[in-house]
Amino acid sequence: MKQKHEEVMELARRRGFIWPSFEIYGGVSGFYDFGPLGAIMKNKIIQKWREFYVVGEGFFEIDSPTITPEEVLRASGHVDHFVDAMVECQKCGEAFKVTDLAREQTGKYIEGAPKEEMEEFIKKNKMRCLECGGELGKVFDFNAMFRTAIGPGNKRVGYLRPETAQGIFIDFKRLQRHARGKLPFGVVQIGKGYRNEISPRQGIIRLREFTMAEAEVFFDPEDQHHPKFSEMAGEQLRLWLAKDQEKDDKKLTEVIVEQAVKRGLVCNELMAYYLGFTKRFLLELGIPGAAIRFREQTSGQRAHYSKETWDAEVLTERFGWVEIAGIAYRTDYDLSRHAKFSKEDLTIFSGGKKVLCHVVEPSYGIDRPFYCTLEHSYVPEGKRKYLRLKKWLAPITVGVFPLLNRDGMPEKALDVHKSLRSKGFMTEYDDAGSIGRRYARADEIGTPYCVTVDHQTLEDGTVTIRNRDTAAQVRVTLAELPRILHSVICEEAQFESVGKPVKE
Ligand code: ATP
Ligand code: GLY
Repeated sequence: MKQKHEEVMELARRRGFIWPSFEIYGGVSGFYDFGPLGAIMKNKIIQKWREFYVVGEGFFEIDSPTITPEEVLRASGHVDHFVDAMVECQKCGEAFKVTDLAREQTGKYIEGAPKEEMEEFIKKNKMRCLECGGELGKVFDFNAMFRTAIGPGNKRVGYLRPETAQGIFIDFKRLQRHARGKLPFGVVQIGKGYRNEISPRQGIIRLREFTMAEAEVFFDPEDQHHPKFSEMAGEQLRLWLAKDQEKDDKKLTEVIVEQAVKRGLVCNELMAYYLGFTKRFLLELGIPGAAIRFREQTSGQRAHYSKETWDAEVLTERFGWVEIAGIAYRTDYDLSRHAKFSKEDLTIFSGGKKVLCHVVEPSYGIDRPFYCTLEHSYVPEGKRKYLRLKKWLAPITVGVFPLLNRDGMPEKALDVHKSLRSKGFMTEYDDAGSIGRRYARADEIGTPYCVTVDHQTLEDGTVTIRNRDTAAQVRVTLAELPRILHSVICEEAQFESVGKPVKE
């Protein structure tokens, strides 16, 4: 039997969700294109993220350049510390990221271990080249930033940004004025991030150019409360604590957000709040709760700026647990470094005193949750294989079909399609092949509802709506169609109650 991953990727390529970039030139690993359906779905995920962070939390959004001058990334520590441990095959020269190879060959996380320990680990576990089985050489550092020159010549070095966060820190002075000195306040940025990953072999999970959605929450270190903490206090979390990972213990600690702070498992309310918030976001995408956990990074695994980091991970069939977002306590690291390097005072006056803000950062990739959502939505029901996407997330919301290609049905169905589009519904008109095949095609890409124009439509102005998940149909009037579709898509009404049931 084909693995779910292969089936999902085959569907994704064939139906226009995602495919490898530069295909006609043989492709380059680490790059993926979003096709016509994928681009819609990716934008919907981004828009949902905005609803959570910009609308829900009231954070400001900015949009800064992706090319960053070297001095910024020197100050942020990326020039010196944004490195991956790399190893090359002695025989064929293939390069590997040591931590990925270790995870693939032994299931262990060795992020942050000193190079000598990594070499010891490789020897002890008899790790070999994945390509030719050859012996692996010495471990060395590889800076994962793409370097470029700003302007002609090499006078001004720049890098493609490895995270969007720095654009926010650089603008801090202007942004805090926008917040009128009120703490905490948050700023988000959504856009491309670039990392020159060492021989990525995990498809869309490890890209060299990917979309990030990051929030930087600035707060007074003497007041680490979240103003809406009580709304999140009861949210259940599954934590894989660093101390358990260090003992090789797979045990997960189940705890509510409030208790996670009270028991000292998570360092403050802000961090715990955004763990709960991230879980809610993933549930909203359709990832089941049982496939979500939070892994605490051990001290060696954390980025140079972080005092505590939790990775939100989603379980996938092909790649195991995949990190979707990192929630990091960046302290005042970035602001104090930029203050030092730029010689600007980045303290603010808040609550009657001078404050150097601390930062909690929920940092998401968009491509990984995109894939995880596809995989978790995929339902192989015998011959019927389809995407049970959340209704709001389906790229096409309504299929519109004439039952037959005659007697004025196509013309009427085209009218319905155009009229629904003019009201903002993402519809697709399809008149090719049998009605059964058209339903199957719509199901395959996750279209939650299909409207069919039949003989009765021409007589009494009613159409059928078919529900993707149950294949049940109801009959409704054309006049009421937009309102009814809206109510079932937003899950404000039960499908069965919105019209007359149609007997098969
Ligand atoms: P990993 O350990 O998998 O390399 P990371 O710890 O380097 O990830 P972060 O630096 O925390 O990742 O980046 C924030 C988010 O950006 C991640 O949670 C992930 O969703 C996304 N991300 C990071 N690297 C990649 C990549 N190479 N391809 C796709 N998404 C990525
Ligand atoms: N901004 C978080 C990261 O890039 O790791």
